[in-house]
Amino acid sequence: MVFRKFCNNYFYLIKILVLVSLWVVQVTEGSRAEYVTCGSILKLLNKDLNLRLHSHDVKYGSGSGQQSVTAVDVTDDHNSHWLVRAAKDETCKRGAPIKCNSNIRLQHVSTKKNLHSHYFSSPLSGNQEVSCYGDENGEGDSGDNWTVVCNNDYWRRDTPVKLRHIDTISYLAGSGRTFGRPISGQGEIVGVSSQYEAYTDWQPQEGLFVHPSDLLPHQQAKISHTEL
Ligand SMILES: *[C@@H]1O[C@H](CO)[C@@H](O)[C@H](O)[C@H]1NC(C)=O
Repeated sequence: MVFRKFCNNYFYLIKILVLVSLWVVQVTEGSRAEYVTCGSILKLLNKDLNLRLHSHDVKYGSGSGQQSVTAVDVTDDHNSHWLVRAAKDETCKRGAPIKCNSNIRLQHVSTKKNLHSHYFSSPLSGNQEVSCYGDENGEGDSGDNWTVVCNNDYWRRDTPVKLRHIDTISYLAGSGRTFGRPISGQGEIVGVSSQYEAYTDWQPQEGLFVHPSDLLPHQQAKISHTEL
């Protein structure tokens, strides 16, 4: 009788231990997948317009004449993939979560050019033009640097952020206007002066997220600190 009671308690304890360790594994996996990391390839959805940030080998017919940046509603277009890199002349550790308010570049994967802005007028709404810029190695200039504006510790995948252009202090936005031919239906992308203007929220979407092999974000952060 006493033996049976002992066995029951014993198995009960084992069961709890197994459940707790399963939970720990899940939480660890969860926190790694929560963040946008250095080296991730993602799409950026403007939720209010339901359009994804996009570029292609089509030049603006006005303004800078550089490669145009638009937004599209299709979900499976490979021209909507962007690679998260450190700002020019800076480095980030591959797989390290991107801190809020840190500086990055977004490289358009299929053309290797960087999301860029400058004091040219956008073609439809007369806001600030946003283009793609850089050589075949993806090297452009300071106009490619952007700050990830968010209120958490890191850039979370489930929360929209603002992207502030460093040189001109403007925010990446949709204008709500759409192009005619040859890119009919695509939305105009612009820089606006206030983060409170419409269409300035960008939500990470389907993509390829690189994760640190086995470190939790706070451990990763420590490592990148010691490397500075
Ligand atoms: C942005 O780009 C320039 C290179 O043109 C670089 O010197 C600068 O440090 C970069 N970073 C920031 C935060 O502006």
